[in-house]
Amino acid sequence: MASRVWICLFVFVFSLVASSFASESEEAQSKEFVLTLDHSNFAETVGKHDFIVVEFYAPWCGHCKKLAPEYEKAAAVLSSHDPPVILAKVDANEETNKELASEFEVKGFPTIKILRNGGKNIQDYKGPRDADGIVTYLRKQSGPASSEIKSVEDASALLDGNKIVVVGVFPEFSGEKYENFTALAEKLRSDYELGHTLDAKLLPRGDSSVKGPVVRLFKPFDELNVDFQDFNVDAMEKFVGETSIPLVTIFDKDPNNHPFVIKFFNSPNDKAMLFMNFSGEHVDAFKSKYRDVAEQYKGKGINFLMGDMESSQGAFEYFGLKEDQVPVIVIQTNNGQKYIKPNLEPDQIASWVKEYKEGNVLPYKKSEPIPKVNDEPVKVVVADSFQDMVFNSGKNILLEFYAPWCGHCKKLAPILDEVAVSLQSDADVVIAKIDGTANDIPSDVFDVKGYPTLYFRSASGNLLQYDGDRTKEAIIDFIQKNRDTATQQDHGKDEL
Ligand SMILES: *[C@@H]1O[C@H](CO)[C@@H](O)[C@H](O)[C@H]1NC(C)=O
Ligand SMILES: *[C@@H]1O[C@H](CO)[C@@H](O)[C@H](O)[C@H]1NC(C)=O
Repeated sequence: MASRVWICLFVFVFSLVASSFASESEEAQSKEFVLTLDHSNFAETVGKHDFIVVEFYAPWCGHCKKLAPEYEKAAAVLSSHDPPVILAKVDANEETNKELASEFEVKGFPTIKILRNGGKNIQDYKGPRDADGIVTYLRKQSGPASSEIKSVEDASALLDGNKIVVVGVFPEFSGEKYENFTALAEKLRSDYELGHTLDAKLLPRGDSSVKGPVVRLFKPFDELNVDFQDFNVDAMEKFVGETSIPLVTIFDKDPNNHPFVIKFFNSPNDKAMLFMNFSGEHVDAFKSKYRDVAEQYKGKGINFLMGDMESSQGAFEYFGLKEDQVPVIVIQTNNGQKYIKPNLEPDQIASWVKEYKEGNVLPYKKSEPIPKVNDEPVKVVVADSFQDMVFNSGKNILLEFYAPWCGHCKKLAPILDEVAVSLQSDADVVIAKIDGTANDIPSDVFDVKGYPTLYFRSASGNLLQYDGDRTKEAIIDFIQKNRDTATQQDHGKDEL
């Protein structure tokens, strides 16, 4: 469940990255450079290549359509790279390819994977989605995972001051520690820049007298550089992961900050997020008080982010926040609970976070207001009425989770209306709907991955997801088959 929460969050984080995609789209040339793969030729083709990139797409996916011409352009450029870099695609929506897609854990579209070594090593593509960006990223990914720093120029080319760079300093490029660093580099290459050197004096910061072996992490914030000397691969990976999250992550328009925002949301820790107007008053007071609190809770399972409301519209929608609540702090725990303090003053940050930590803050639930009138055939459920209308009503209820923007939901609406009208005289059956974007839903019970999602809960509490035809007849048939009869209902009540 928690992972789904974060996927939703990624949507707003990534939508901001996506807006920088090249918008012009040229018609693909007649020769296609992108290979089309399917279940029948996938293993054989991949097995033949040391380095191949595979896009899993769906024909209906808008982001895929936007990517297609860029991907094709990049494939054309990279086809003459030495050695050639092959770009391929798989229609993951095609029934026969679905097993392949699930093998690669494709959960959204497009999903792009980099396969090395005849498909033995699989890595997520985390680069840009415009043609030039794809080319640059893949050129780098197809080269060595860690590049040798032989001069000050090499060092300054790698360390541009905006990114996290992990450099191994060694007395010689051999031995178990060096091997382990190389293994680390392979593991982290899609997320970090990595280098290795024999001479710490070439590096811009840190103790230049060390002979190594030492891992030195450079970052554009906080301590700027940190050394680490445990060469266990897992220990190094953990060190890099923890050290590369800023004490306070900044979420604003600056694209240099966005990779850190993504890291912030990727972290398994609880997340504190303070949203305010960065051009408004008291920003400095907030920043310094917030930093103090972040310092105080460092290493205690909670990360801190400060977001400019101008860049955080997606977050506002996601959490159901209103502009008149800013400055507002939200804490989201790893199990999806939310805690909110609106109209925050700088002096309240420390005490509120302390109260939260001590368990004295009540969780927040996003809900539309309970409708005063609810007399249409299809009843309206909101988060605040969910308990009463769904769990405690003692009725057989068919509940649609919908989104206002969802086309399939609009198509289904008149059909549900007809179902509701047909069953109106049956007092034990309720047809209802809830806007899943405006209400928190009990995600420990209902697995809503897309819209519309239909669930049926019988009067005695039997829960079924409805995956049948979206016709009046099929739905009514399903309800009649799975509803409790009056006696079962009474029995069910006895048990409760
Ligand atoms: C290298 O990594 C392996 C696996 O993480 C670990 O068992 C080993 O102790 C490491 N070697 C050194 C010298 O740290
Ligand atoms: C933020 O504050 C500035 C300066 O007071 C103001 O001009 C701007 O409209 C505010 N932005 C929002 C989104 O309220």
